[in-house]
Amino acid sequence: MLQQIKDASEFIQSRIHKKPEVGIILGTGLGNLMVDEIHKSVVINYNVIPHFPMTTVASHKGQLLFGEIHERPVMVMRGRFHYYEGNTMHQIALPIRVMKMLGVKYLLVSNAAGNLNPDWHKGELMLLDDHLNLMPDNPLRGENSELFGPRFPDMSAPYSIELNKKLKQIARKKKITLHEGVYAGVPGPTLETRAEYRYLKTIGADAVGMSTVPEVITARHAGITCCAISVLTNDCDPASLKPVSLDDVVKAAGSSEKNLVTLFNELIRSL
Ligand code: HPA
Repeated sequence: MLQQIKDASEFIQSRIHKKPEVGIILGTGLGNLMVDEIHKSVVINYNVIPHFPMTTVASHKGQLLFGEIHERPVMVMRGRFHYYEGNTMHQIALPIRVMKMLGVKYLLVSNAAGNLNPDWHKGELMLLDDHLNLMPDNPLRGENSELFGPRFPDMSAPYSIELNKKLKQIARKKKITLHEGVYAGVPGPTLETRAEYRYLKTIGADAVGMSTVPEVITARHAGITCCAISVLTNDCDPASLKPVSLDDVVKAAGSSEKNLVTLFNELIRSL
């Protein structure tokens, strides 16, 4: 595993001009997010990077983008790796550990998620205050690499209180609706049944999706400061549940792109 991370990092380092400080992960339907904001960019396709998994989802591009936003060196994952694609948790962790090796200090994550909160609406954004790991594995299972972090990493605040405070201030200033809540990470690929949505609400989730949790666990283990925002792409009221297609999810995510760009952009400016 360590050799794979070193191989991928060295390959990337030979192609970029500046070490990235901020990592950004773009979720379903959000592949164009930030792309126009990045200056002096270098694009590297996942399929040429040693040991990088491949994305199998059409709504996810498979590229790393390097460049600058507000003169801060950033690294953007256009398309991420999901558990439901058949990736192991170690494969999902690999790009995050590569980020760490390249020098990333902050990780900004976006995702598409189902909305479980009756007071909120699809198309709105939710800042992650916390998460529930409902996936059947953990990226840190197995031998611990002390090089990255401790055996039993603290998870008392996986999403940075400081970054969240800044994001809430930016949202207020820019008049963007930004809810705050708990994200449940599930394995997928099926969307939930009515009984499952009811269960998720009962155990305290406000939103549900199939990503983010493994990446944030890996990043926190490695001491990277994290924040994440969900685009609420579908309302999951068990009493009036309607069928949902990927198309609906992608469209809803795209419609919120502008607000998400503003939040991440201003956050990077303030770091
Ligand atoms: N469930 C799980 N993942 C999702 C959903 C959902 O309702 N919407 C977008 N991603």
